Amino acid sequence: EKGGYDHFMLKEIYEQPRAILDTFRGRMLSNEGIIRMAGVDDNIEKFLNAQRILIVACGTSWHAGLVAEYVFENLTRTPVEVEYASEFRYRNPIITEKDVVIAISQSGETADTLAAIKLAKSKGAFVFGVCNVVGSSISRETNAGAYTHAGPEIGVASTKAFTTQITVLTLIALKLAQKKGTISTSEFHGYLTEMSAIPAKVEKTLESDEHVKTISSIYKDATNFLYLGRGYNFPVALEGALKLKEISYIHAEGYPAAEMKHGPIALIDEQMPVVVIATRKGHYEKVVSNIQEIKSRKGKIIAVVMQGDTSIKKIADYVIEIPETLELLTPLLTTIPLQLLSYYIAVMRNCNVDQPRNLAKSVTVE
Ligand code: M6R
Repeated sequence: EKGGYDHFMLKEIYEQPRAILDTFRGRMLSNEGIIRMAGVDDNIEKFLNAQRILIVACGTSWHAGLVAEYVFENLTRTPVEVEYASEFRYRNPIITEKDVVIAISQSGETADTLAAIKLAKSKGAFVFGVCNVVGSSISRETNAGAYTHAGPEIGVASTKAFTTQITVLTLIALKLAQKKGTISTSEFHGYLTEMSAIPAKVEKTLESDEHVKTISSIYKDATNFLYLGRGYNFPVALEGALKLKEISYIHAEGYPAAEMKHGPIALIDEQMPVVVIATRKGHYEKVVSNIQEIKSRKGKIIAVVMQGDTSIKKIADYVIEIPETLELLTPLLTTIPLQLLSYYIAVMRNCNVDQPRNLAKSVTVE
């Protein structure tokens, strides 16, 4: 049932080209320039009139929410707040009927997220669910929603759920941006064309597997890791660190790259691997100078760069390439090598990859 893979996690990492395709297939008609999503179309006025979008989730789904914050604000110019469901529900939050709440959950059973939805509904907000498990509690409790079509995710560490959540959320943002006129028709078409190319580009990114395995063998005994990214890839840095913590039990922290000099830089010495996401269009020069600061303190750099990058190759210890794409879509690619890195390190440390200690696939207790 693992389809020839040693673990469900690896199988699920490799299923991502298909999972992303299944998630946009039938919804995004790129030739016609149409995005069709019943849950959004039927409630379009709620979305268009929203004074604010609130996203509630936990764990990896919360990271997908953070990516969505950048995507929604950039494309639709609607203010977005992303909240840990557990904090939101106990804070006596300000929610009004003019808010749209998006709850993200792979399992659809996360207790805190479910409670946050109930609270938001009781205050009159329109609540939209992004779930993977069909018929789950969250999918039933929300006013409307859109499923990710990732297929069953068995590994406790979430992989394909994350990239398909980003896919669904990006489709929603594009649809709203088109309706609101906050992006031009040609930009809209450009995003659709590029989204159609993502499954093949994920496939291409997976070809870095052997290279990532080699890098994993070099750093598998590290006791700490730092992950840095900016913009759309800041949440990817958080997600990379969470993945490593969960399955390899190595302490890891994700940070927005520019925050490094406000504290974490003190940790850097020759023992510290730093994974830096440095795509060419995202504040590239600034990230290059962060890399130089790390190097001058003898830190080890593993950089995720866009194909054809030359400057970072000269200074990083290892580079992993992703194919060229639009900056807004890069999280769908940069995530892949970080998943593989955590996977191989965990395997090399003899950890139980699919069922890490102390963790459950769905957290139904508060
Ligand atoms: O099922 P959910 O998406 O609501 O789960 C949320 C988190 O429990 C989940 O993402 C968790 O952080 C994963 N183990 C991450 O890999």
